[in-house]
Amino acid sequence: MGGKGAVAVIGAGTMGNGIAHVFAQAGFSVTLIDVNAVQLAKAIATIGKNFDRQIAKGTISEEVKASAMANISSSSDIATGVQNADLVIEAATENVDLKLKIFKQIDEASPKDCILATNTSSISITKIAAVTQRPGLVIGMHFMNPVPVMKLVEIINGYATNKQITATIVELSKLLGKIPCVVNDYPGFIANRILMPMINEAIYSLFEGVAGVEEIDTVMKLGMAHPMGPLQLADFIGLDVCLSILKVLQDGFGNPKYAPCPLLINMVMAGKLGVKTGEGFYVYQAGSKELVVAERR
Ligand SMILES: NC(=O)c1ccc[n+]([C@@H]2O[C@H](COP(=O)([O-])OP(=O)(O)OC[C@H]3O[C@@H](n4cnc5c(N)ncnc54)[C@H](O)[C@@H]3O)[C@@H](O)[C@H]2O)c1
Repeated sequence: MGGKGAVAVIGAGTMGNGIAHVFAQAGFSVTLIDVNAVQLAKAIATIGKNFDRQIAKGTISEEVKASAMANISSSSDIATGVQNADLVIEAATENVDLKLKIFKQIDEASPKDCILATNTSSISITKIAAVTQRPGLVIGMHFMNPVPVMKLVEIINGYATNKQITATIVELSKLLGKIPCVVNDYPGFIANRILMPMINEAIYSLFEGVAGVEEIDTVMKLGMAHPMGPLQLADFIGLDVCLSILKVLQDGFGNPKYAPCPLLINMVMAGKLGVKTGEGFYVYQAGSKELVVAERR
């Protein structure tokens, strides 16, 4: 078992399995928790495959994989999963009512000095902290996808987060080999406050006929050295996720500049959500790496 401390990760989806991976690799004892047993088994298998990919690249050895995998256990019950944790990181589905319910549960079941972090992309840390008896120990720890690859951790101070807790999470992020950036709790934090209006403006440019999908993405890739154009990135994030974060910005600031483009709203209503549904601004066929622009009606 990992000797550096006990971490419980709630939610074994895309982000949860990546977060469990990096903590286990850094020597922490990790309990991965999900209500869905199938998802839990899938997450453990995904972590194993991702370690194999690191071995094939020569970045880690078989021994590192074996000891990291031995650091991970799983549970389908939050109360037992968090009972000995030093740190809980919640990475469950992005739904405010669900997160408030989970934080009430972990506040009751975890040790009183345990730090409670959330990986939320857009929900207020202050609001989540307010349902617990320890708002000073609640913080945002926003990892980027894919977690084992991306260096940034956006650390978000809630209104009541203790300075000492922020310092602890900064040091912990460095221990994971990440680069932490501390920001304050306002809608979209920094990452999405800046990224989502750019994506929305790209969609407006397409909607108004200023340029086509390929032209918009090529200008931003070659002109601004972005690794991916904003429309392709929106497809990867999920157009439903982009829409919901833009609504958080619009509601939170009360400023019409964040209003989601009608084309984005239409595409979400039509179920064209990007990579996960096989079509967004581009079409995605299994096994094909070629970028094909989707037909727009
Ligand atoms: N996907 C990304 O690129 C990304 C990037 C940064 C942050 N985030 C944030 O990370 C969080 C998780 O996102 P994801 O993409 O991994 O979602 P996901 O849908 O892949 O996984 C969510 C998991 O939570 C589980 N879950 C739901 N209710 C639960 C409960 N009560 N207890 C335990 N587990 C429960 C689900 O079974 C599912 O396995 C969200 O808050 C999201 O905003 C996502």
